[in-house]
Amino acid sequence: MATHGSAAEPGATGRAGAKAILLGEHAVVYGRPAIAIPVRALGVEAHARPADDRGHLSSTLYHGPIAQAPDRLGVTLTAMRAALAAAGRPGAALDIAIESSIPAERGLGSSAAVSAAVIEAVLGACGFAADDETMHELIQTAERAAHGAPSGLDARTVRARQAVWFDRGRIEPVSVGDDLVFVIADTGVRGRTREAVAAVAHRREEDPRGVESALDELGELATALRRDVSTADREAIGSAMNRAHELLNGLGVGDAALDHLVHAAMAGGALGAKLTGGGRGGCVLALARDTASAEELGGRLTRAGAAAVWTTTVEGVA
Ligand code: PMV
Repeated sequence: MATHGSAAEPGATGRAGAKAILLGEHAVVYGRPAIAIPVRALGVEAHARPADDRGHLSSTLYHGPIAQAPDRLGVTLTAMRAALAAAGRPGAALDIAIESSIPAERGLGSSAAVSAAVIEAVLGACGFAADDETMHELIQTAERAAHGAPSGLDARTVRARQAVWFDRGRIEPVSVGDDLVFVIADTGVRGRTREAVAAVAHRREEDPRGVESALDELGELATALRRDVSTADREAIGSAMNRAHELLNGLGVGDAALDHLVHAAMAGGALGAKLTGGGRGGCVLALARDTASAEELGGRLTRAGAAAVWTTTVEGVA
């Protein structure tokens, strides 16, 4: 029997992390800037190696032949095929194993992170080295299968190691004045990014002036926030987050479960809290004063009914 992953073809590993949007979701779809942060507690690892037969996939959602993988794995398969095509090996058969701790459909970039890890592993297994732009385009190909017309924010940030400023498809590192501790609380309700993006588009047709003015304000908040992050002005960061949550509610992408956790976060001592990602479910991001208060805040959010809570520190960097 042939063995998998012989010394000559050991296979390759790809990794990516979760992200949270500090400010600017939805507004980025209309050309406004956004700031995103990596969530180091959550990540994906994918491993790819040449297959003996036609290739197997192993993930929490499915174990079996790639040819029989169900539709819900469409994004992963799109990522795999795009990477094989880029490597000039469109017909190659690989065994792919994926392990992820990022909950899906919670606004934490799960689909982009899985795609990024799979693409990196597949390219590596084919001995193909891609530059950043090629990687980005490949992740975007898979993201289009997931979300229709993604802004590229997720594709860029799941591979970033620090807070990033995202403007019209490009990222720049953001300087962070001091460690900032955030708590992320999951409503347990699946976020519906595609539906939320469509709802904003619809509202913009009905009320162009109202929606444009909210998007402008979100853009201005992001610009001011970049300064406030660079000086670690926690009060200002918190109040920008609160205002963004109000504006996102006004755009119709909030829901009762998100509001409930935002209120619980504020009652629990957060300096600011907002939905993060597409909305209509998913997660709330809250800024804590420091590590000790983050722990207290996490407990408060769990008691308020959060399905899961994570703490993530954005480290100070010039
Ligand atoms: O829900 P997520 O993590 O996929 O974030 C969506 C962010 C949006 O701005 C709503 C859409 C986009 O393409 O940027």
